[in-house]
Amino acid sequence: MRLIIENTPKEVARWTADHIIKRIKEKAARTDEPFVLGLPTGSTPLETYAELIRRYKAGDVSFANVVTFNMDEYRGLPADHEQSYHRFMWDNFFSHIDIKPENVNILDGMAADPKAECADYERRIAEAGGIDLFLGGIGEDGHIAFNEPFSSLSSRTREKTLTQDTILVNARFFDGDASKVPTTALTVGVGTVMDAREVVIIATGPKKARAVRHGVEEGVSHVWTISALQTHPAGIIVCDDPAAEQLRVSTYRYFKDIERDNLMSNR
Ligand code: PGA
Repeated sequence: MRLIIENTPKEVARWTADHIIKRIKEKAARTDEPFVLGLPTGSTPLETYAELIRRYKAGDVSFANVVTFNMDEYRGLPADHEQSYHRFMWDNFFSHIDIKPENVNILDGMAADPKAECADYERRIAEAGGIDLFLGGIGEDGHIAFNEPFSSLSSRTREKTLTQDTILVNARFFDGDASKVPTTALTVGVGTVMDAREVVIIATGPKKARAVRHGVEEGVSHVWTISALQTHPAGIIVCDDPAAEQLRVSTYRYFKDIERDNLMSNR
């Protein structure tokens, strides 16, 4: 695993956007096949999306040959609901870039048959040739996508019940009213994320420090689903200093030292 420790959320966003753009260009230089990008919602990726939009507007990157798969969607929210992840993605990213609407894949939270919708999502990912890079956030409880604690580390896309902790954390988007937060979501599984050729997880702020510590220093466990990243051949966590504050000094120094050239080349 690589752990990139930057000073600020802005630097995390810059590193992550640079990395995604580099990967899109590398694939485009090799093949006409689209780049398949897995994407998250949440507060953390907002700055990365803003940076990718800025770079698109500057002419540094095109998303015309990019296919996206989002991680999850609330069950029971129509696509046009202001808190749906459909709306989030179009408002904060897709409307500002040259992505083709037919290349955007987001689970349908209103599907009459959620099981069939989830199976179809896995089929669509496979048909697209698998995901080249899955970008993700991390929950305070260490979840990736909506794979709450004790999710199977080999889980696939399915409907998942949200924990009370997650509902309370997400109530901030629903007028602070936990009763308005959907109680289930459709989400890619830990196994779905781990099948991507590369996984990049971003974490900023002290509230994520415990999850980062479990992901990096503790054992692989379904209690902290982020820890599955340790089994991935190309897993990267990009965090800011506050999110790294619960790591051992020796761990912190190790990654700062080994990534030094890399960090300098990105400034
Ligand atoms: P956040 O959510 O970026 O809003 O903190 C991350 C997550 O729950 O995966």
